[in-house]
Amino acid sequence: MKKKLDDLAIFGGVPAFREKLHVGRPNIGDRGRLLERINDLLDRRWLTNDGPFVQELERRISEVLAVKHCIAMSNGTVALEIAIRALGLTGEVIVPSFTFVATAHALQWQEITPVFCDVEPQTFNIDPNRVEELVTPRTTGITGVHLWGRPCDAEALTAVACSHNLKLLFDAAHVFGCSYKGRMIGNFGNAEVFSFHATKFLNTFEGGAVVTNDDELAEKMRLMKNFGFSGYDNVIYIGTNGKMSEVSAAMGLTNLESMDDFIAGNYRNYKQYQKDLADVPGIDVLVYDETEKCNFQYIILEVDEAVTGVSRDQLVAILMEENVLARRYFYPGCHRMEPYRSYFPHAGLLLAETERLSKRVMSLPTGSTVKFEDISRICEIIKFVVSNSSEVRKKLQQ
Ligand SMILES: Cc1ncc(COP(=O)(O)O)c(C=O)c1O
Repeated sequence: MKKKLDDLAIFGGVPAFREKLHVGRPNIGDRGRLLERINDLLDRRWLTNDGPFVQELERRISEVLAVKHCIAMSNGTVALEIAIRALGLTGEVIVPSFTFVATAHALQWQEITPVFCDVEPQTFNIDPNRVEELVTPRTTGITGVHLWGRPCDAEALTAVACSHNLKLLFDAAHVFGCSYKGRMIGNFGNAEVFSFHATKFLNTFEGGAVVTNDDELAEKMRLMKNFGFSGYDNVIYIGTNGKMSEVSAAMGLTNLESMDDFIAGNYRNYKQYQKDLADVPGIDVLVYDETEKCNFQYIILEVDEAVTGVSRDQLVAILMEENVLARRYFYPGCHRMEPYRSYFPHAGLLLAETERLSKRVMSLPTGSTVKFEDISRICEIIKFVVSNSSEVRKKLQQ
């Protein structure tokens, strides 16, 4: 318990946690099942190249999401790049800046200009009305990002895409297992891309997948992730190496079996944070729509400095010293990162909401390794800091 300012680690006190609590500590399913699967794949000596575990994982994911095709890949970024190329995107593609930089890089990597669009203040997702304003004769597509497990307004984006004859791709890195209007994410737009990075809800160590209901697109992406090979010695397409390995698929299958437990644990943590922070003025915990399926993978706080008296950055710095490795997700917005900052130095003028949110939001540790007492202690520190904010602020400035 922090009772006076000097108890805070940033002012010389003992950190509240001996071991660091990370954001995005991996969820790991049944270790025994994973090791059995690893033994199997070693016995088979089939380590990669569309092995049985990759095929099974693709099948299982298609079933869970009720989508026709799942193409497993080496990571979410390569999956985005392949989907973008297979969709034939060129020229300009409209994307939010308030996202992980891979969403923009996957376009720029292929010399497609990401045109940054602002987000909606309520959902933090790309604003379909603003998308419409950014369409030019060079626009070929839109990439929506379902940020932190909360779906984009897929209906409105579909309407904009249809009216301008644009392709619609979703970066669904954060939303495995979530639904929108009762339908699983994975079924919207031309295709949706998942990341199975270690920090994601479903992890395959590193990995990703594109899912789609479009047969032709699926076939194209299958070729592209395997150098364009169609059978031995026959390359019929430009391609790259985007294959998922068997050990990754073994991890994916194992974790998929524990999906309900992961959700239950995340939900418990979410409710606990909500309860413990309910009375803290100026701190809002991002709310999930509980009428939809949700993975509750992220605990996001919005800090209103005018009310709390401390800034988001000060709060993150204080928590870091306590060994709570809170993160400024997503900061500072892609448009403030290179090469975009140099290419579009004035982009921020059209991104008022992105600029505002990127100074206010932060992410806290959750997942199966975070205990009830950890959450109470983290929230107590936040409460202590906010209720002593003017002294904390003064001391930080000394
Ligand atoms: C929104 C978003 N898009 C894309 C990616 C890239 O995925 P990966 O790390 O699997 O390449 C990530 C996370 O890493 C992400 O958060």
